[in-house]
Amino acid sequence: MTMADKYLMGAATSELDRMLFQGEMFRPEAQRLLDRCGPGPGGRAVDVGCGPLGILDMLSDRVGPGGEVVGLDVQPAMLDLARRLVTERKLDNVRLVEADAAATTEEAGRFDFVHTRLVLMNVPHSDAVLNAMVALGRPGGTVAVQDVDWLTRVCDPPHPAWTKVVDLIAELWRINGMDVHLGRRLPRLLRGAGLTDVQVDAGIRVFQRDHPYHTLVVDRAELCRDALVERRLTSHDELDQLTGALREHLAHPDTVVVHPVLFQAWGRVPGGPAAAHD
Ligand SMILES: C[S@@+](CC[C@H](N)C(=O)[O-])C[C@H]1O[C@@H](n2cnc3c(N)ncnc32)[C@H](O)[C@@H]1O
Repeated sequence: MTMADKYLMGAATSELDRMLFQGEMFRPEAQRLLDRCGPGPGGRAVDVGCGPLGILDMLSDRVGPGGEVVGLDVQPAMLDLARRLVTERKLDNVRLVEADAAATTEEAGRFDFVHTRLVLMNVPHSDAVLNAMVALGRPGGTVAVQDVDWLTRVCDPPHPAWTKVVDLIAELWRINGMDVHLGRRLPRLLRGAGLTDVQVDAGIRVFQRDHPYHTLVVDRAELCRDALVERRLTSHDELDQLTGALREHLAHPDTVVVHPVLFQAWGRVPGGPAAAHD
């Protein structure tokens, strides 16, 4: 397993907390997606790369007691927390599976709704994961992907340390076979994977000083410090200077941060009856 395969951000407790926070933050977007193309009562759904919760709770609610939800993730630490939350919240129709999404043994053609959020941009074999997702969907079922595109990743006023740090992280992703501009490519990737009736939407968030995601870029750079230095993209000294200057800039009440665009794309697995929402 490569470093990127293991998920560059790791599974430290603070990273798990961040993912839960992020999941809550993006709940309205997920709700809108599910209202458009989500499974109905009694449906079977899978959240690929569910992390510590993903949208398992929302799927559980939608399919109800007669339905089934599978949460699939490659990292045991993610699933440990997911297991705790699933038990605490009494999500009795949720089953958790530890597996690489590209090599899952879940039965092919079984799911009405196959979903993944913020996973494809973080794996070097995103095409293999997407193909495996399509294989999991039943004919007529829906495959839905939510992922970002750094198109809008700017701060205002601009600052050279921001540009440098964003470029460093993007370069680390690139040399690990991943693409920070994946979002915009989702519709054609879904079509290329054989889905039909592909649709797309996108949304943007903007943060000011009091929001925890205002400092996400600099927090990430610090989380990736060892990988950035190992790959000789920067030195510890340079990174200290950059992150110091950037934290100072972000602390200014006038500085705003634009988050990457969250793309949502979904399509239908060919053949079979259309999903209930259609
Ligand atoms: C950024 S987190 C997103 C978690 C969740 N989808 C959410 O939106 O809150 C990415 C997740 O994908 C998982 N992951 C990465 N590669 C994977 C793979 N090949 N198979 C299954 N899960 C994978 C990671 O372990 C991590 O939990």
